[in-house]
Amino acid sequence: MERLDKILGNMGYGSRKEVKASCKKGLVIVDGEVAKDSSMKIDPETAVIEINGEVVNYRKFIYLLLNKPAGVVSATFDNYDETVIDLLDPEYQVFEPFPVGRLDKDTVGFLLLTNDGELNHKLIAPKNHVDKVYYAEINKPVDESDVKAFRSGITIDDGYKCMPGDLEVISATEDGSEVLVTIQEGKFHQVKRMFEALDKSVVYLKRVKFGPMELDESLEEGEYRELTEAELEMLKSL
Ligand code: URA
Repeated sequence: MERLDKILGNMGYGSRKEVKASCKKGLVIVDGEVAKDSSMKIDPETAVIEINGEVVNYRKFIYLLLNKPAGVVSATFDNYDETVIDLLDPEYQVFEPFPVGRLDKDTVGFLLLTNDGELNHKLIAPKNHVDKVYYAEINKPVDESDVKAFRSGITIDDGYKCMPGDLEVISATEDGSEVLVTIQEGKFHQVKRMFEALDKSVVYLKRVKFGPMELDESLEEGEYRELTEAELEMLKSL
């Protein structure tokens, strides 16, 4: 059971004082009855709450899929740069979501945002082996020896030996290559550092898959949508 003003406050319907005023004016209805007392305790999971004629879609957690654009940082706050949270409407920001793992400022593509700490933890723990697939453009030709190096585990600049990764070459010329990289970890700049260890540079990086989910290509960069029930179930059952 929770206080009505707290529930509505958390959902972005105003401060405790504002909710109190709305209740006094008879604008808040709980299970069909006018709620005059904003401090009344109700079960938000079962009660039907209406405010200003609108039914409140109560939920504790939100789950968003963002097609991250370049130039924004995967953080909830930054002194200099725009963050992925700045891209969201206030109706989502009130839930205080955070990014699930990080993409570099110049990396684009699949990024989940949620305020569900438990799911976040599950999805980013390397021991849970959630595959992340990246499309990358590389400045040099990539060949079978690189594929083998990925498979056996690349040692990056700080001496860390990465878990085996999968490298698939889409095209390779003297001017550069297009590849798909699948890894399960998410070390800082990992894909870039893996290629640096092979004396090559990543010039473009886009995350296209996260576990069983693919980037929704109908989302333009900077656009986002809520996950469907089915997608959420799929992620929770990993
Ligand atoms: N690896 C990187 O180097 N950068 C990213 O943003 C993600 C994976």
